[in-house]
Amino acid sequence: MKGVILAGGLGTRLYPLTKVTNKHLLPVYNKPMIYYPIETMVRAGIRDLLLVTGGNDAGHFLRLLGNGKGFGLQHISYAYQEGEGGIADALGLAEHFCDGDQLCVILGDNIIEKDITKAANDFRQQPSGAKLLLKEIPDPERFGVPVFEGNRIIRIEEKPKQPRSNYAVTGIYFYDATVFEIVRTLKPSSRGELEITDVNNAYIERGDMTWEVLEGWWTDAGTLDSLLLAGQLVGKASRTSSSSRGR
Ligand code: G1P
Repeated sequence: MKGVILAGGLGTRLYPLTKVTNKHLLPVYNKPMIYYPIETMVRAGIRDLLLVTGGNDAGHFLRLLGNGKGFGLQHISYAYQEGEGGIADALGLAEHFCDGDQLCVILGDNIIEKDITKAANDFRQQPSGAKLLLKEIPDPERFGVPVFEGNRIIRIEEKPKQPRSNYAVTGIYFYDATVFEIVRTLKPSSRGELEITDVNNAYIERGDMTWEVLEGWWTDAGTLDSLLLAGQLVGKASRTSSSSRGR
């Protein structure tokens, strides 16, 4: 399985913090945001990574991450997204890198407490299709929200005013290589972007989508409040682990 980290976009919800830098280079407690999704991949044993970014600050990722030595990697691949085509457009750039393999895709502003090893291993056994990781949260209307019929997801609604469940679709996705055929069929949404939710709905229509609930806390860091929350959660977790080490 290969890993794709999507770290493009203008980060307008964080203006003016993102006026002269990419959102994913901003600090979350003691590390740049982009470190967290890379660590999530590496902890799950996914070591063949592609980082997709764009904009004026793309070169900063190379300076910060190099070949990934700081994460125990020998190599990181990079792709450049021209324009603001959205998450699914950025994912489309991973086709050559994917080369027929299964993919784990993480949005660069998604930070988690625990790890995704079990979900990754489960997906390795899945012969085709996709897998979502869900998290029960108090404010699902900020995210993609699954609609259930029994235990089955029948569709995902993107930022619904009236969410049909208390779950968010986290920005951690598993796809088979047919994802690129789906990306090619997408039409831009009302915000002019190719939406990852449309990709997921295509798998659901095919009846080839599984899901699991993510353990531990999860947050995005794409708004001022969630960026602050992410820093607080990471800070608390790192203080807890250093005090238990000192015991
Ligand atoms: C994106 C997806 C949304 C998902 C979220 C997770 O939203 O469109 O479905 O729940 O990431 O972080 P965005 O952050 O682009 O608004």
